[in-house]
Amino acid sequence: MIITKSEFSVSSPNIQLCPKDTKPEYAFIGRSNVGKSSLINMLCNHKNLAKTSATPGKTLLINHFIINNEWYLVDLPGYGFAKRSKTVQQKLEQMITSYILQREQLVNVFVLIDIRHEPQAIDIDFINWLGQSSIPFSIVFTKADKLSSSKVAPTAAAYMDKLKETWDELPPYFISSSETKRGRDEILDYIENINKT
Ligand code: GTP
Ligand code: MG
Repeated sequence: MIITKSEFSVSSPNIQLCPKDTKPEYAFIGRSNVGKSSLINMLCNHKNLAKTSATPGKTLLINHFIINNEWYLVDLPGYGFAKRSKTVQQKLEQMITSYILQREQLVNVFVLIDIRHEPQAIDIDFINWLGQSSIPFSIVFTKADKLSSSKVAPTAAAYMDKLKETWDELPPYFISSSETKRGRDEILDYIENINKT
């Protein structure tokens, strides 16, 4: 798919304030600092569309970006950032879970996993929760440029094997790098195919 136009639409503290139209949307979720905002910028070929930071905890609201005037990419705050106060953490988690469970136009959730990390309970629990809640999702392994190229595919495959212990049907997965733009065509084609159906 070719992105001809990508624009910031709105930042919302809750689902009631999200865009009222019913255009399909695709959300990005994962631990703080995993590269959600960077991936959105990479997909849109737009350096500063979503705000990124080397310090975890940058994204704090539900951010909608309108693509080709037809559909949305949604940048969510990260989960599992230990340095936040418990109250803030609980508020963010509640924002994320109600958005995911209640947003009817949410077509797919991309769960981002840093390819350098061994499977972590917090991600596996989140993936299991999505599956149990019947939310369509796929997995994106991020920061592939940080791993030697021969290790990338086997590492991703080993992670998917771990998920197989719990799930009979594995979700689709992608390998990405916001630095090299790896995965861009695959992810955009995937979205295009869903938009067509
Ligand atoms: P929060 O909003 O805090 O939850 O973080 P986020 O998941 O949106 O991460 P963000 O996109 O802000 O990126 C965090 C850091 O990782 C930044 O310093 C990025 O430059 C870096 N980063 C993100 N993606 C990649 C990647 O593919 N490769 C490399 N080398 N660095 C990346
Ligand atoms: Mg972010």
